[in-house]
Amino acid sequence: MTATSNRRIVLASHPAGKPTLDNFRTEDAPIPAPGQGELLLETLYLSLDPYMRTRMNGTATYAAAMGLGDVMIGGAVARVKQSNHPDWKEGEIVVAYSGWQAFAISDGSSLRRVDPASAPVSTAVGVLGMPGFTAYAGLLEIGRPQRGETVVVAAASGAVGSVVGQIARIKGARAVGIAGGPEKCAFVKDELGFDAVVDHRAPDFREQLAKACPDGIDVYFENVGGQVLEAVKPLLNNFARIPVCGLVSHYNDAGEAASINLTDTLFKSLTVRGFLQNEFAERLEPTFLKEAADWIRDGALRYREDIVDGLDNAPQAFIGLLEGKNFGKLVVRVGK
Ligand SMILES: NC(=O)c1ccc[n+]([C@@H]2O[C@H](COP(=O)([O-])OP(=O)(O)OC[C@H]3O[C@@H](n4cnc5c(N)ncnc54)[C@H](OP(=O)(O)O)[C@@H]3O)[C@@H](O)[C@H]2O)c1
Repeated sequence: MTATSNRRIVLASHPAGKPTLDNFRTEDAPIPAPGQGELLLETLYLSLDPYMRTRMNGTATYAAAMGLGDVMIGGAVARVKQSNHPDWKEGEIVVAYSGWQAFAISDGSSLRRVDPASAPVSTAVGVLGMPGFTAYAGLLEIGRPQRGETVVVAAASGAVGSVVGQIARIKGARAVGIAGGPEKCAFVKDELGFDAVVDHRAPDFREQLAKACPDGIDVYFENVGGQVLEAVKPLLNNFARIPVCGLVSHYNDAGEAASINLTDTLFKSLTVRGFLQNEFAERLEPTFLKEAADWIRDGALRYREDIVDGLDNAPQAFIGLLEGKNFGKLVVRVGK
């Protein structure tokens, strides 16, 4: 069926705490027409990522906040439907920052070409895209795992965490994952090959984590904060490195995030370093994309996608992401 309108989801209100369906509004707008030097993109897969919650608050963070009525921001895999641009051809597949909508106009800047022959195109917003690259850059540039060291990562079955642990193992380190629930834990250990995994929902989580890290923790890749960070802190070794990638357990609350105090940082000679993946953007292509594609081909890097059908289901899926309901990289199939 050919689309006759541009289905899109806009920010209807700023969430107070957990987002609800009322914070989103679905609209049908005319399909935009590309001007000279522009392209019309048709969304195939929309990426849903935790950072979107921080942009819904109406206050600027590291990036501008979304305004009420704005199309929800987000990365997507799209097909060039129409091109008035000399560098882009109809039918090409690209990664674009085109938001929660079926169609979008682009001037061609900040698009990345995707080779549909090399991998399923949805992976261009997953293991072979921003989340995979975040894991790679944060772990290797900041965590710098050495052979035999212990690397701990939470949200270990997710888009970033799954890649962190597997790269740690590729580099000869011991990977310990933290995940929510027995099914995710089994996947992290049995399918992804982590050395150990601990369920952060278990009543004896702290004890189990200590048991899984008999030599302490050398790299803690921070994805969640909260209770997980509290359990990790006493296990940190001297000279441990902590790439601070995300704090998903705090995105729905306005309170203070869990923190590492300067006394611990001093006495244990810790390196605590926040980062946004685009800081390392020059290593995305070809370095990361080539290396990751090789690892996938060799079976050293595995991935799992959680694909939800239909743009209309994006708000519910996004709400679930912040509660751990996704199992793998969360994407929405928007078009065919
Ligand atoms: N710095 C950067 O440039 C950058 C780029 C991309 C992503 N990130 C960050 O990386 C982190 C992971 O992102 P992702 O895309 O890979 O998401 P994801 O792991 O695919 O999904 C989020 C996961 O977080 C866990 N979670 C949610 N609420 C939690 C809570 N209250 N306590 C503990 N765990 C909770 C859940 O896993 P369990 O059910 O297993 O707990 C959930 O499945 C996020 O913090 C994100 O903001 C940062």
